[in-house]
Amino acid sequence: MAEHILIGVAWPYANGPLHLGHVAGAYLPADIFARYHRLKGNKVLMVSGSDQHGAPITIRAEEESTSPQEIASRYDGQFRECWQKLGISFDLFTSTSTVNHTEVTHDIFLTLLKKGYIYKDTILQAYCPHCQRFLPDRYLEGVCPYCGFDKARGDQCEACGRPMNPFELKDLRCHICSATPQFRSTEHFFLRLSAFQKQLEEWIGKQSCWRRNVMGATWKFLNEGLKDRAITRDLGWGISVPQDGFEDKRIYVWFEAVIGYLSASKEWAKLNGDEAAWQPFWTGESKSFYFVGKDNIFFHTLVWPAMLLGYGSLNLPYNVPGNEFLTIEGQKLSTSRRWAVWLPDYLDRYHPDPLRYMLSVNMPETSDSDFSWREFLRRNNNELVATYGNLIHRVLSFTYRNFGGAIPVPGCLDVRSRALMQQAANVMGTVDDLLYRCNFKGAIREAMSLAQEANQYLDEQAPWKKIKEDRQASAMSTYTVLSLLSALKIVLYPFLPFSSEKLHYLLGFKGNLSEVGWKLQKLEPGQKIPEPCPVFVKLDDAVVDEEEQRLGMISME
Ligand code: MF3
Ligand code: ZN
Repeated sequence: MAEHILIGVAWPYANGPLHLGHVAGAYLPADIFARYHRLKGNKVLMVSGSDQHGAPITIRAEEESTSPQEIASRYDGQFRECWQKLGISFDLFTSTSTVNHTEVTHDIFLTLLKKGYIYKDTILQAYCPHCQRFLPDRYLEGVCPYCGFDKARGDQCEACGRPMNPFELKDLRCHICSATPQFRSTEHFFLRLSAFQKQLEEWIGKQSCWRRNVMGATWKFLNEGLKDRAITRDLGWGISVPQDGFEDKRIYVWFEAVIGYLSASKEWAKLNGDEAAWQPFWTGESKSFYFVGKDNIFFHTLVWPAMLLGYGSLNLPYNVPGNEFLTIEGQKLSTSRRWAVWLPDYLDRYHPDPLRYMLSVNMPETSDSDFSWREFLRRNNNELVATYGNLIHRVLSFTYRNFGGAIPVPGCLDVRSRALMQQAANVMGTVDDLLYRCNFKGAIREAMSLAQEANQYLDEQAPWKKIKEDRQASAMSTYTVLSLLSALKIVLYPFLPFSSEKLHYLLGFKGNLSEVGWKLQKLEPGQKIPEPCPVFVKLDDAVVDEEEQRLGMISME
């Protein structure tokens, strides 16, 4: 039976370009997972969109003396181009600026309000006497009471990751002018998160397949006790509050952004001409997976589930495979210090698959991992080109030249050959299993082990030597390696979609690999193959110096 798999991917703030941290943290694992499930024949709905509201966008607009919409539209366009080039195969990538998203947000807000899960209260809010405005949390800076970091923001401490109430910060100052804010009273709506403490504890307690790091972060918040959170802001940019007297306020960006998963699913259904098509992904036996970076875990394992519990009738997350951080050349990635590798830059200069490979083998799954250009080059040249690429090229060229440009007739397979075919089947099974459990690093290692095995077999059989004295034996071992390639193109497809499609074509198959399914596609003897060309390209050593120099410099903005 085909499963319904909903894949939600953290909505990127449309306030700056994407970088490799985003890719490794959320977009790549989500895409691998989506491609895998589609090959398995499951029904996949993978959605996200640009997160266009909130202080991150208005701060950027103020810095550039332009409008928030101008900023949001610019990066929204850039994101879409990146997904296309990197092969991130969203079923829908939308934005939080659609009318549909506002409608769905208002529906959830009003339902929770009616049920008593949202209430109104008067609070003291930071007001900058110099800038003469209320300051949203992001516009506040101070010393984190938990870790002592002195540039903690009012919504979250970047250093220790705690969500923050601005009152908690020490030495509070205005982010714009550094003046000391005053506190003035203002009315806001609150999400009664505290009401869900018990229900969430029970639900989290039942999750046996979640990652340890995700569990750890979630229990930390639960053990501290969930506090109600303000979900409106004194800000002019964002989604309106559907209540009289709140004309000058907006819904808090985090409250509405998580609703994006639902509104995007509904939008997708409408676009596909079946308004109800989103429902099987949100109800019954369907499973939902939310791919997010470490700093988004709280909102996806606690806040969004609480909202869903309050709203009723929709499935809670099945899993939230949150990733840790990617460091760059051993240092913490920082967009403000420009210590990042920007995705548009990478995609301008290199092929997408080597990056997908590097970040898969090196995914920050359960602990931080590092990206360095030297390691990138090494993995491309020694693993993709030397192991996998050479295997492909050697056997395809040999076939093309010696067997009339067609798959040779193998005759009876010997014991060694049959054992290898069995191993290919086993690897397909293991990779299947690992991917199902979101163990991406383990899955690509397992897949690559088959390429190493095939290489060894090819060296040992040396069909190019055998062909002189025993043409049949040469044909058999060649056929065996070609069959292993047919398995490799499948198990590596979720990671290296472009290269796998190319290999599929070079093996003489017609149509798209994505339609083959998760199975060893049998090679028909006599099947014509096109003239081979290399699938992977060696990168010059100079790339390392060149790219290391670019780090820390202004780029792509
Ligand atoms: N825009 C947020 C960030 O970049 C992530 C939002 S994920 C959401 O940290 F889906 F909840 F919106
Ligand atoms: Zn100020």
